[in-house]
Amino acid sequence: MADKQLILGIIGHPVGHSLSPLMHNTAMKHWGMDGCYVPFEVKPKGVAQALSGLRALGVEGVNVTIPHKQAVIEYLDELDPPARAIGAVNTIKFSDSRAVGFNTDGSGFVASLKEDAGQEVQGMTVLLIGAGGAARGIAVKLAMEGAAEIRVANRTVARGRALVEHLRSELSYGAAESVALESSSIGRVLSQTDIVINTTSVGMNGKGGMPISPEGIDEHHLVCDIVYTPLETAFLKECRRRGARTLDGLGMLIHQGDLAFQIWTDKNFPPNIIRDLLIKKLFA
Ligand code: ATR
Repeated sequence: MADKQLILGIIGHPVGHSLSPLMHNTAMKHWGMDGCYVPFEVKPKGVAQALSGLRALGVEGVNVTIPHKQAVIEYLDELDPPARAIGAVNTIKFSDSRAVGFNTDGSGFVASLKEDAGQEVQGMTVLLIGAGGAARGIAVKLAMEGAAEIRVANRTVARGRALVEHLRSELSYGAAESVALESSSIGRVLSQTDIVINTTSVGMNGKGGMPISPEGIDEHHLVCDIVYTPLETAFLKECRRRGARTLDGLGMLIHQGDLAFQIWTDKNFPPNIIRDLLIKKLFA
């Protein structure tokens, strides 16, 4: 790597808002690497061409964001087990004419759980709010890590059921069930829950509203929100007031990037520097 410039990037549409260039360029600079991380705006019809072009140009790897996380799969030679089970890729490594797909979104969340909140997954009962792409990535990783039970509460019940079915069919994980979002059923579920995770956009940008009624949240719970603007959502604030431990969404963003950086460079993000930088960028 020493004599070759390291070119990394992200493909998506749009990519202008992505915080990944800031994180990865800072990490490369920190480690004295000669290279850069570039945002590549790629429209859906350009995905195949973009991937073969990146490969031909000797780009080491790219992140993949909306709307290409599923579309890239057919152009890859191999998928790591989480990417295969999730059915979506957020990181690609090009090497020796092979393109390998990874998914570090769910792994990033679990790394944040362990490293930022000191929380193991094995044997834990989880209430997962939402059933979109982010929820699927997290649910698959939680199931792979041995969560005792995963209950999915989603506004559109059919989508929640589909996620439960996905865990059954892809991972033979039978300890998942779909639950109603109404406060009476959530209240019952909360009394048997260790970890609550909001994967919906409710609460983003300080807009009012909570993904579930916080009634029944107490000091026995760890409550996580994958939203990071604001860093403490109204939901997390209320849960903290009720005595719960809380985990904000910035950790997942950083850890998914850190795991991708490790895949490409065998190095970690420099501790703390990236988080401080993101906070400055987002909230200054
Ligand atoms: P992502 O990839 O970020 O997960 P997504 O696939 O669009 O995005 O999923 C968004 C999730 O947030 C879904 O679970 C969605 O619920 P529905 O399946 O019912 O659409 C949930 N969501 C978004 N806005 C919501 C709201 N105002 N109230 C409740 N749930 C909401």
